Amino acid sequence: MTLYKFFLLLHSGFRHIAMVLILMAILQSLVGWFGKKAYTEGNRKINLFALISAHTQLLIGLVLYFISPFVVFAKGTMHDAQARYWTVEHISMMIFAIVLITIGHSKSKKETLPESKHRTIAIFYTLALIVVVVAIMQSKRAFFGMSN
Ligand code: HEM
Ligand code: HEM
Repeated sequence: MTLYKFFLLLHSGFRHIAMVLILMAILQSLVGWFGKKAYTEGNRKINLFALISAHTQLLIGLVLYFISPFVVFAKGTMHDAQARYWTVEHISMMIFAIVLITIGHSKSKKETLPESKHRTIAIFYTLALIVVVVAIMQSKRAFFGMSN
């Protein structure tokens, strides 16, 4: 297995963990927000783990960016849908999503009312997940599978 294949597999597999954690954070924040529940230690941990998994995915993605044959800096990149997607669109959309998660997490952390903490996570993480899902749909790769 090449180093490239290793990181591709890692990045591709880890996205499932990241997306499940983000989804769990969204669901529990919606329950907390609309159910007017307290902000528990369990809530805090899932929200933090979702943030950490997003940052880890960013780190793996950055490594992959410099070794992937799909990332090409050439004159024709912008005219080739596949090269453009992996060189420009994927990284932009995913970093935007991760920034939303990071801002949401830090904003929620600073708030004091349980309702505000839940609401901020619900809004920012949901927006981020939508961006991630749209980005994966545009990649023309399998949503759940992994390339080999
Ligand atoms: C390219 C790599 C990364 C970048 C650019 C990055 C960026 C950031 C930024 C800007 C914050 C600030 C959030 C705030 O102000 O509240 C942050 C927080 C954090 N990051 Fe990352 N990060 C990276 C990788 C990682 C990795 C690999 C991990 C863990 C495995 C990680 C875990 C965390 C944690 C735990 C926090 C603090 C959350 C809190 O406020 O409690 N990050 N990161
Ligand atoms: C939440 C964040 C992210 C998710 C969910 C995600 C998801 C994915 C998926 C599903 C693939 C296709 C894997 C396959 O075909 O098996 C992929 C590939 C890739 N991603 Fe990401 N990604 C994220 C963030 C990033 C970031 C921030 C970067 C760059 C800094 C990046 C760079 C890449 C590269 C270079 C490829 C490889 C294309 C190839 O060689 O086939 N990703 N990502």
